[in-house]
Amino acid sequence: MLTCADDPTDELETLEDIEQPKKTLAREIRENLAKFPHCLLLTRVGQFYESYFDQAVEISQLLNIKLASRKWENQRIHMCGFPIAQLDRYLKILVEQNKRFVAMCEEFPRYQPQLGTRTFERRVTRIITPGTLIDESFLNQYENNYLLSIGTPNALLTDNDALIGLAWIDVSTGEFYTKSSTLECLRDDIARIGPREVVLDSRIPRTHPIIEALNEDKNFLSFISCDSVLAPPPTLPPDAPLEQVTDELVESSEPATSATTYTPEEALAIDFLTTFLKDHLLEHMPSLATPNRENVNNRMEIDSHTIKSLEIRENIREGGQKGSLLSTIKRTITTSGTRLLLRWLCSPSTSISEINSRLSLVQFFHARPFLREDLASVLGKIEDATRIAQKFSMGRGDVSDLLAIKNTTKTWALLRKQVETEKAIEERDRGEHFKATEWESLEKLMRRLADMEDLSTRIEKALHAEVVGSSQDPSAEEEEAMVEDGMARSWRYPTTKWKIRPEYSQTLKTLHTRLSRLLREKEQMESSLQMIYDAPSLTMRSSPGLGLHVHLAKAKRDSRRLDDDAAFVSIQTSNTTVSYLYPEWSRLGADIFDTSMRLVAEEKAAFEELRREVVLHAPMLRRNARIMDELDVTLSFANLAADMNFVRPILTEGNDFEVHNARHPSVELGLMTNGRMFTPNTLDMRENSQLQIITGPNMAGKSTLLRQTALIALLAQAGSFVPAGYARIGIVDKLFSRVGAKDDLFHDRSTFMVEMLETSEILRRATPRSLVIMDEVGRGTTIKDGLALAYATIHHLATVNQSRTLFATHFTELSDMLGYSEGNPSPAPFDSVSFFCTDVAEVENGRFAYSYRVRPGVSKDSHGLKVALLAGMPPH
Ligand SMILES: Nc1ncnc2c1ncn2[C@@H]1O[C@H](COP(=O)(O)OP(=O)(O)O)[C@@H](O)[C@H]1O
Ligand SMILES: [Mg+2]
Repeated sequence: MLTCADDPTDELETLEDIEQPKKTLAREIRENLAKFPHCLLLTRVGQFYESYFDQAVEISQLLNIKLASRKWENQRIHMCGFPIAQLDRYLKILVEQNKRFVAMCEEFPRYQPQLGTRTFERRVTRIITPGTLIDESFLNQYENNYLLSIGTPNALLTDNDALIGLAWIDVSTGEFYTKSSTLECLRDDIARIGPREVVLDSRIPRTHPIIEALNEDKNFLSFISCDSVLAPPPTLPPDAPLEQVTDELVESSEPATSATTYTPEEALAIDFLTTFLKDHLLEHMPSLATPNRENVNNRMEIDSHTIKSLEIRENIREGGQKGSLLSTIKRTITTSGTRLLLRWLCSPSTSISEINSRLSLVQFFHARPFLREDLASVLGKIEDATRIAQKFSMGRGDVSDLLAIKNTTKTWALLRKQVETEKAIEERDRGEHFKATEWESLEKLMRRLADMEDLSTRIEKALHAEVVGSSQDPSAEEEEAMVEDGMARSWRYPTTKWKIRPEYSQTLKTLHTRLSRLLREKEQMESSLQMIYDAPSLTMRSSPGLGLHVHLAKAKRDSRRLDDDAAFVSIQTSNTTVSYLYPEWSRLGADIFDTSMRLVAEEKAAFEELRREVVLHAPMLRRNARIMDELDVTLSFANLAADMNFVRPILTEGNDFEVHNARHPSVELGLMTNGRMFTPNTLDMRENSQLQIITGPNMAGKSTLLRQTALIALLAQAGSFVPAGYARIGIVDKLFSRVGAKDDLFHDRSTFMVEMLETSEILRRATPRSLVIMDEVGRGTTIKDGLALAYATIHHLATVNQSRTLFATHFTELSDMLGYSEGNPSPAPFDSVSFFCTDVAEVENGRFAYSYRVRPGVSKDSHGLKVALLAGMPPH
């Protein structure tokens, strides 16, 4: 199939040189290349995916596979290819690593029995892009794969308040959201959503701030020409009510916010997204759900630097997940539960009732370790129903997916039963101490689970039980393909593992009865022929070359009587064997073949019917899956609290922030694995201590203290217990962080300018309900300028923003500028400022160690000498 070029370096014909290729394949490829100029084209040819002409050179280089050549129309052209089994591996390289679009041209064989030939129809069924993955093996199961589009009604507006619309979808799960935003908040939204691909209006100038912001954060951008987007007839009638997505527990005590319509910029973003999907998913385009409008009113705003500097998803230094908050606290069991966990972490709530409803579930589970274990083992059997349902709605998926749906819906029912049983047991065990009210939140959740027994029974009745995993068996698939192609009239087909039970339909039943009868007839015919013609080596066969024939393995011994009978026409002989045409067998064999073909078609139809039923049930499947995700996340929070000794935080509407013996979960875990202890710290921010200046030498634990404080707020508002002995937290509306040059390892752009810009953004946006952490602000410049910047920032934060703030600095001079004197409150306007420090302490006879313990005061002495000693400098 693949021929090596004799001389790969010689001048080969390019696409344009080949005039009117007669071969259909060449013509098709040519057309597709012209039709999808922005894509790499892979064309299925038999058991290979192939690339031709100039693209073959590029693809062979990208994939590091052999570049070959082929003769078409007496001209040599480039080509390369790989077996279909390698597709996912190579797509990963092309789409994920190289961010290329790949147009998949598939091949549909059609057998024409009259002519005995096979023709092919080839067409591009999908274009794979980083943001439109469906079920590729390299799709990360634990994270959402979002495609985001930005609607800019006026592309030329560049002021911060300019309205822009966002729409984002995870094609693999069908989750679809929309939101109105501003240029100012765009980066924060993007950092939180974490899209794999961003779709933009191609008319936006490349120097536009939107594009600059996206590029700076290394987003992958795709442009869509507006001609293909219809002028905003929104996808929905304009007055259609929108479901508000709050990401709160499905059963929430809060009334749904009133119905809204899309804003023009949202409608535009939705149209961009829909058009892009249609252009790329092509034949796999699902019917899209109504996008949920993201409720911005009760989400904590987290700025883009904070998501990175708090290392929520990823560890800054090593890039990977190790050491990130997610990896430290993740105890979820299911893949979709993990996706919800990450969403909750990146988008904590500001609604006390929502947070408390999560927390009471966590508390409930926390108090019941055995229940936790039991439910976890049931959850472990659940499959990713959301993704499977979505796969079906995109025309993919197979019998094993049907089975997964069946098993999962059954497991849901089982889980609900389990909860009832456990409650009964607790009631029996606790007697009069039993409190039914404690079970309410879990029961409420369970009640929302839709009963899907009809679907699971239907699938169960339709499928053979032993069908499990058969689709993973490549030989079975191949066999099926052969039968479908109708090329190989191989006798292997009666052994095809039928997947649908005969009882599924009358037609199937009739066909199966007929097939068994014909196969019995075949057996009888064979044995009677063996007897009548005294030919024990006689078998009735079929082969691609000879068609239906009678075969003698020992011709010498068995052929005599057959040769005498005119009904047997010898068609092939070898030294030891002989094959005959025998009309009786040809008739019967054709009948068997025909019946099998009809069975295959009938099974396919039955599968399609079942697939449609699953798609009809998709909303219910999604809803139940979502309830399970919440169960998984709250259970995981309970396990986490038990493992790492977390407490339930108390949330208030005030501006409190009081945490006792608080820890940084990831740093603590890191120390623990080295057999070291984390030193917990207590922090109390109230009116006279809203803004705290933390001083101390290098490596004394300042940054850790700042980050752990932010993480505790974030965990609490995500609905988790927190790493502390006690925590009372006034709801944080916005979380900001400004990490100084030294710690800001994300960008190399440690310029003073950037620091100023980011700081001024915080000063513009922070409110009295916000939490701000400022780490070494002013480091990126001279001491004089740095001090001036730090002073101005503190002044603004204390007098205008009045946010709760932790400000770590190694400028001890700053405390004098703010009027610090030991034991006395600071004078106005800094009366809300208080001073804390962390020290190096003398442990014994001149040896020093970091204490990591924060105490009131200012770390005056620079400790340079002690730190040097600690670092191993010789004492003299
Ligand atoms: N509370 C603590 N208890 C134990 N070790 C700590 C604590 N805080 C910090 N550390 C250790 O000290 C190292 C430096 O802390 P860091 O917060 O970066 O210091 P700074 O910002 O003051 O230079 C951390 O990596 C951690 O190993
Ligand atoms: Mg630091």
